[in-house]
Amino acid sequence: MAAITAAAPYAARDRDLRNRAQVRGWLYFVLLVLFALVLVGGATRLTESGLSITEWQPIHGVIPPLNDAEWQEEFQRYQQIPQYAELNKGMSIEAFKSIFWWEWVHRILARSVGLVFALPLLFFWATRRIERGLGPKLVGILLLGGLQGAIGWWMVASGLVDRVSVSQYRLATHLTLAALIFTATMVVARGLAPHSEPAADRSTQRLAGVIVLLALVQIYLGGLVAGLDAGLSYNTWPLMDGRLVPGDLLLLEPAWRNFFENPKTVQFVHRIGAYTVFAVALWHMIATRRRLPGTTHARRATLLFLIVLVQASIGIGTLLMQVPLHMALTHQGFALILLGFAAAHWRGTKGAYPLPTRPPMKRRYVLLVGVGVSLVAAGIRLSLPPVWFP
Ligand code: HEM
Repeated sequence: MAAITAAAPYAARDRDLRNRAQVRGWLYFVLLVLFALVLVGGATRLTESGLSITEWQPIHGVIPPLNDAEWQEEFQRYQQIPQYAELNKGMSIEAFKSIFWWEWVHRILARSVGLVFALPLLFFWATRRIERGLGPKLVGILLLGGLQGAIGWWMVASGLVDRVSVSQYRLATHLTLAALIFTATMVVARGLAPHSEPAADRSTQRLAGVIVLLALVQIYLGGLVAGLDAGLSYNTWPLMDGRLVPGDLLLLEPAWRNFFENPKTVQFVHRIGAYTVFAVALWHMIATRRRLPGTTHARRATLLFLIVLVQASIGIGTLLMQVPLHMALTHQGFALILLGFAAAHWRGTKGAYPLPTRPPMKRRYVLLVGVGVSLVAAGIRLSLPPVWFP
């Protein structure tokens, strides 16, 4: 009897660890789908395919045109928007199909990631595999995903009237929210992983966190560069317009607009952002190697610095080569790798989440209701016409 009692905590611990491994595996899979989604999103933008589907039909929209008549109908709808009239007049139906497919795959992946997240979440919850404290984090990520769908449509809507491309403000917001969801998922997954070393000191943790924030800001700035096609001009480095700090950065009135709408200023600020990330990552690497020599934290800080170095080099290559598709996509994909690694490293410096104490909480039921409500809310949102979401 005594032996059974003594073994009980170990059995509970084993079960907790097994649950954590399953939840973690699922979150890593979500990260993989998110990564593919962001890359296809980038290809959709770079091939100027993002406005090819002009109607928002959450359920019916999953089925692509199936015969010639349906393709003609879809094509005719595209011919009504300014992008067709000003950029693609006379486009063949075959060319239209190729831009359509990029956007279609992007939307299908976006819907899939919602399911890949929500369904296992419900399963893990129902089978009591979600430990105390994890529920709100996972529901938070789910809600951010719903918000991202709405922002995606808000972005597309900006390019359907008056303009030939989407607003750079909305594009950058969409990209940054995708990056935020990726970061949050990575942080939670890494918090559930077994950590081989104790947490690092506070100042190492803080600097690792600052790099995550800077990477997010840099991704927002990259979104502005991409949205304004600001990488197609001033294709020199390190000089820009013949100088380290070019002139006419504050041409527009009021001055703040230059930071969002003046391609020259936006590109310059993205460069400064990259130098900042580079400098802070270098500082973090040197400080961590000094403070915690020979540790995993120090090795990861070094690898993070190298990733920043590679990313900055890819960015420079993208600029010098005037943004060819393969370079721009590599630059975008590597930005996520950088961000994901920075987030994993930051979480690593804080140590794993403490193992839950038994018995499991009653709050589980409240959170379960939370997930249900979110799903219903998402369903209602999807069934409303886009005019409700200008
Ligand atoms: C830490 C370093 C960097 C990060 C995290 C980063 C991130 C990004 C991101 C996320 C985008 C948006 C990609 C898209 O939506 O297609 C972007 C665009 C861009 N970045 Fe960077 N970047 C970095 C450094 C640089 C550097 C050093 C340069 C050049 C001096 C550069 C040049 C560009 C250019 C030209 C674009 C526009 C590409 C396009 O139109 O698709 N980047 N960057």
